[in-house]
Amino acid sequence: MARVAVFGLGYVGCVSAACLAERGNTVIGVDVNPDKVAMIREGRSTVVEDRIGELTAEMVASGQLTATTDAEAAIGETDIALVCVGTPSTPSGGLTTNYLQQVAEQIGEAIASREDRYTVVIRSTMLPTTCENEIVPRLEAGSGKRAGVDFGVAVNPEFLREGSSVKDFYDPPKTVIGQIDDASGDPVAELYEGLPGPLYRVPLKVAEMTKYADNSFHALKVGFANEIGTICSALGLDSHQVMDIFTSDTKLNISPAYLKPGFAFGGSCLPKDVRALVHRARHEDVSLPILEALLPSNTSQIDRAFRLVAASGARKVGMLGLAFKAGTDDLRESPMVELAERLLGRGFELRIHDRNVSVSRLLGANQAYVDARIPHLADLMLHDPREVVAHAEVVIVGAADPEALAALPDEGGPKIIDLVRYPGSQSQEGNSDYHGIAW
Ligand SMILES: NC(=O)c1ccc[n+]([C@@H]2O[C@H](COP(=O)([O-])OP(=O)(O)OC[C@H]3O[C@@H](n4cnc5c(N)ncnc54)[C@H](O)[C@@H]3O)[C@@H](O)[C@H]2O)c1
Repeated sequence: MARVAVFGLGYVGCVSAACLAERGNTVIGVDVNPDKVAMIREGRSTVVEDRIGELTAEMVASGQLTATTDAEAAIGETDIALVCVGTPSTPSGGLTTNYLQQVAEQIGEAIASREDRYTVVIRSTMLPTTCENEIVPRLEAGSGKRAGVDFGVAVNPEFLREGSSVKDFYDPPKTVIGQIDDASGDPVAELYEGLPGPLYRVPLKVAEMTKYADNSFHALKVGFANEIGTICSALGLDSHQVMDIFTSDTKLNISPAYLKPGFAFGGSCLPKDVRALVHRARHEDVSLPILEALLPSNTSQIDRAFRLVAASGARKVGMLGLAFKAGTDDLRESPMVELAERLLGRGFELRIHDRNVSVSRLLGANQAYVDARIPHLADLMLHDPREVVAHAEVVIVGAADPEALAALPDEGGPKIIDLVRYPGSQSQEGNSDYHGIAW
């Protein structure tokens, strides 16, 4: 069992301290606020939560949990620190990291003379690179030691919900450990050993970002549901009935589908239907800021791809994939068609391969769509992807078609702009001629 110092006895610190004590660890809570320290010493929780009152009282009575304002003493008696101090918003919306910085300086000084390897774990929510750029340098300066060598550093974001956090502690949705090295993550993993849910051990900044991805998504879900509710209400129908059906779909709606960064959406449905719903809402005098932002957000992704091509310095561009979805010849509202149109408009010499698109066989709305945008498409399409690659100074990969991808040389060849994260693209890591659109 570990000896743990928990810095910051607010919501996160208090729950973490009591639960880790209940698991048999020896826990010392540290706070600059003497009132909070006094409360814990008296066996009272600093927050109101289901079960936390009884748990704190029990743990203090049994001696597993104590509290102090003396950071140095707490570090002297422990092997691992969990930092749970606040990181509130600045008036302009930024993140306050002053409390984190202060704790890092305190811990740095306190471990300067330690012979054994102390581990510092940040549990507070902080933007990616905060640990690397603001915490580690202070720990190193204070201690005169090296992170990942003489002491450990990890990031362990907190995913518990206020109101049910003690229950959630024992049944977490996941455990994420950002680690500067394996030896830093090991003691953190031991703290949670045996708890259910997947465990991820990742680089520090990946762990920092997971918390922001989670909370942004949760906020998006609430906003989305409320906007669907608003339009339902304006149209006189029951939004809960709609969302019951919506949430019952665990294949496409409540699922990993559509949640990997990549290129813009397109096709004959998504843009048209979002446009129509937003149009109807305006007609009903209803404001739907999230839904209204979807098409502009999608256009930004096409802008990003265009800028990557422009920044490559190339004039001769190859495009692998043109249809809105690989394996179809549907060009309607394909973002690849829009990208091609823009590139041609700016004078890029474009050649395209998509084995499912045969210009002579395009019909109806599909043909009309492309005729209006790329009238000479037939002149640009090449049957053999190797010819596209041979022509190009930069190749845009817009579909993960294995036959077309086989035309890319293993080494050398044109620059690559990857819009789909094609299989095998990870081997390009570190190659300055490879650019993923969002990775
Ligand atoms: N509240 C939540 O539901 C929740 C959930 C997940 C993550 N978080 C994140 O966890 C962090 C802590 O949140 P919280 O709600 O527990 O904050 P809080 O404001 O309730 O508590 C922070 C505590 O840190 C103490 N503190 C400040 N400087 C200190 C120092 N130098 N040494 C020791 N203690 C110090 C404060 O006195 C306070 O008691 C934040 O980054 C927050 O974003 C919060």
